[in-house]
Amino acid sequence: MKLFIIFSIITCFCQLLSFSNGRSVPNNVGASAPEQVKAVNLGGWLVTEGWIKPSLFDGIINKDLLDGTGVQFQSVKVGKYLSAEGGGGTITVVPTASSSESFRLWRINETTFNFRASTGRFVGLNTTGNGKDIVVEAEEPGAAETFQILRNPNDLNRVRVRAPNGLFLQVKEKDESVSADYEGDGGWKDDDSSVFSIKFGRILQGEYQVTNGYGPLIAPQVMKEHWSTYIVEDDFKFIKENGLNAVRIPVGWWIASDPSPPKPYVPGSLQALDNAFSWAEKYDIKVIIDLHAAPGSQNGAEHSSSRDGSQEWGLTDNNIQQTVGVIEFLAARYANSSSLYAMELINEPMSPGVSLDNLTKYYQAGYDAVRKHSQTAYVVMSNRLGSSFEPTELFSFANRLEGSVIDVHYYPYYNTSLNNVTVERYIEYINNDEAEKVRQLTTSNGPPIFVGEWVAEWQLTNTSKEDYQRYAAAQLEVFGRAQFGWAYWTLKNVNIHWSLEWMINNGYIKL
Ligand SMILES: *[C@@H]1O[C@H](CO)[C@@H](O)[C@H](O)[C@H]1NC(C)=O
Ligand SMILES: *[C@@H]1O[C@H](CO)[C@@H](O)[C@H](O)[C@H]1NC(C)=O
Ligand SMILES: *[C@@H]1O[C@H](CO)[C@@H](O)[C@H](O)[C@H]1NC(C)=O
Ligand SMILES: *[C@@H]1O[C@H](CO)[C@@H](O)[C@H](O)[C@H]1NC(C)=O
Ligand SMILES: *[C@@H]1O[C@H](CO)[C@@H](O)[C@H](O)[C@H]1NC(C)=O
Ligand SMILES: *[C@@H]1O[C@H](CO)[C@@H](O)[C@H](O)[C@H]1NC(C)=O
Ligand SMILES: *[C@@H]1O[C@H](CO)[C@@H](O)[C@H](O)[C@H]1NC(C)=O
Repeated sequence: MKLFIIFSIITCFCQLLSFSNGRSVPNNVGASAPEQVKAVNLGGWLVTEGWIKPSLFDGIINKDLLDGTGVQFQSVKVGKYLSAEGGGGTITVVPTASSSESFRLWRINETTFNFRASTGRFVGLNTTGNGKDIVVEAEEPGAAETFQILRNPNDLNRVRVRAPNGLFLQVKEKDESVSADYEGDGGWKDDDSSVFSIKFGRILQGEYQVTNGYGPLIAPQVMKEHWSTYIVEDDFKFIKENGLNAVRIPVGWWIASDPSPPKPYVPGSLQALDNAFSWAEKYDIKVIIDLHAAPGSQNGAEHSSSRDGSQEWGLTDNNIQQTVGVIEFLAARYANSSSLYAMELINEPMSPGVSLDNLTKYYQAGYDAVRKHSQTAYVVMSNRLGSSFEPTELFSFANRLEGSVIDVHYYPYYNTSLNNVTVERYIEYINNDEAEKVRQLTTSNGPPIFVGEWVAEWQLTNTSKEDYQRYAAAQLEVFGRAQFGWAYWTLKNVNIHWSLEWMINNGYIKL
C-alpha cells in the first residue's frame, strides 16, 4: 500500500517534469513533507454554515427572513398566489404555485426587503405608470423595489406587504390583478384582500445571511465571539494527538480585505486564520487553505456565501482577477509559515455554470500567484461539481503545473439510490464503486488526488455503532489510496456523525 503510493507520486512527478515545457519548475515542491495528508476540515468556522452550528443564527430578529429565503404569498381571501408569470411583466395572481410564484428575499433589515423573481429581476412599483401597479422589471433593486413585510404578531405566517408608496398590496378579485393601493385597517381578517399567508421554500444560512441578518452593529460582535471560541488551540492539540497531520481550512474571499471587508461581511477572520497558523506551527500540523467562498459564489450554495442561490463567479475577467488577488494575498501572508502545505484555489465550482475554459484560466493565474510567493506549497484544484463534467477533465492542464493536486469529494450520502439499501450493500458500494472511481483517477497519469471531503454518514435508519465503524473504516481504506491524502468533513458539527471530534471521542473512528 505505502509502496504503491510512493511509486505513484514518483511517477506523477516524472510526468510533471516531462510536461513542464520550459516553465520555471520548483524543484523542492513537497520536499518538506512527503507524508500523505490525513486531515480534517475546519468547516463552519471562517465560512458560516447554519446546519453545522444553528445556534449562530439564534439572535437574529426575523431569522426566517434571511437573504435568499424563497417565499410565496398566498392571498388568504382568494387562495391564489402572487405570480411573476403574467404577461407584460406585471404581478398577477394564479391558482397554484411553482417557480414563477417564488421570490427570493434580499434583506435590507429585519422588516425591509427586495423580492427577486425566478427570472433574476426584482419586483417593484411601476413608477412611470399610475404609481400603484406592481411589475417585475428592475435588474438591480432601488427605492421602487423596496418593500416592507408586516407580520401578524399572533400568527407570524400572516403578512401584509407595504409598497414604497406607503400602501399595501392587495388582490383585486375581479380582474385577478394586484396593486399597491390599500391603506389597511390594522386587522388580519380572512376576507381582507391585503392579507397573505407566507410560505417558505429554500433557506440559505451562510456567511452573507448571518452577517446581514445581524446587521452592522451586532454582526461584528457575534462573529468575533464565534471565531474565537469555535476553534481554539486545544483543537490543534486534539488533532495532533489523534493521528491527524493536517487541517483544511475553508476561508471566504472577504478575508483578504480585512479589517474592512465589503458589507455585510465583518472583520476578524484574518486574525483567526493567523491564530490557526501559529497553533499549526506549534503542533506541527500542515495547513491547506481552501478558498471555499469566491466572490459572486462559484456554486450558489450557502457554503460559498451565495446571497440568494445564484452563481456569478467566473462570468467576468474582473471577477477572476479579484479572486486571483485573494489567492495572492493569502500566499504572500503565509508563504513563510512552516505549516503552509497547500493552497486550494477554489472549492467545488459548479458545472455547467462555471465553464472549463474560464476555470482553467483562473487556475493558471491562481497557480502563478501562489508560485510568486511559494515554490513549495502544493496548489490544489477542485474538480467541478454537477452532472456535465469528466472526473479527469483537469488532468492534461494540471499535469503541466508542478506541484498541482486535484481535489475530489465523495458523498454517497447524497446518492438517493442508496437511501434504502442494507448496510452490507452500502459498504460494498464503497469497496467497489467508490474504489473504482479512485482507481481510475489514481492510475490515469494525472496529478496526485486529494479526497478533500468525505464523511461517515448515510441516510440509513436504525444502524448500529458497529455499522458506522465498518463504514468509516471502508472509506478510510479506499480514500487512503488517494496519493495526496484525504480530509474528513468536518471537525465539529451538531450532527454528530459529521463531527470527527465526536466520532473519535465516541470510538466510531480510530486512526
Ligand atoms: C429598515 O430600512 C428602512 C429603509 O431604509 C428604514 O426606513 C427602516 O427604518 C429600517 N428599519 C429598521 C428596523 O432598521
Ligand atoms: C409601466 O407604466 C407605463 C405607463 O403606463 C407603461 O407604459 C408600462 O408598460 C408599464 N410597465 C409594465 C412592465 O407594465
Ligand atoms: C467566461 O468568461 C468570459 C469573460 O472572460 C465571459 O464572457 C463568459 O460568459 C464566461 N463564460 C461562462 C460560461 O461563464
Ligand atoms: C518571507 O521570507 C523572505 C525571505 O526570508 C523575506 O524576504 C520576506 O519578507 C518574508 N515575508 C514575510 C511576509 O514575512
Ligand atoms: C449512486 O448509486 C448507484 C448504486 O446504487 C450507482 O449506480 C450510481 O452510479 C451512484 N451515483 C453516483 C452519482 O455516484
Ligand atoms: C424505502 O423502503 C420503504 C420500505 O420498504 C418504502 O416504503 C420507501 O418507499 C422506500 N423509499 C425509497 C426512497 O425508496
Ligand atoms: C433496529 O435494529 C435492531 C437490531 O438489529 C432490531 O432488533 C430492531 O427491530 C430494528 N428496529 C427497526 C424499527 O427496524
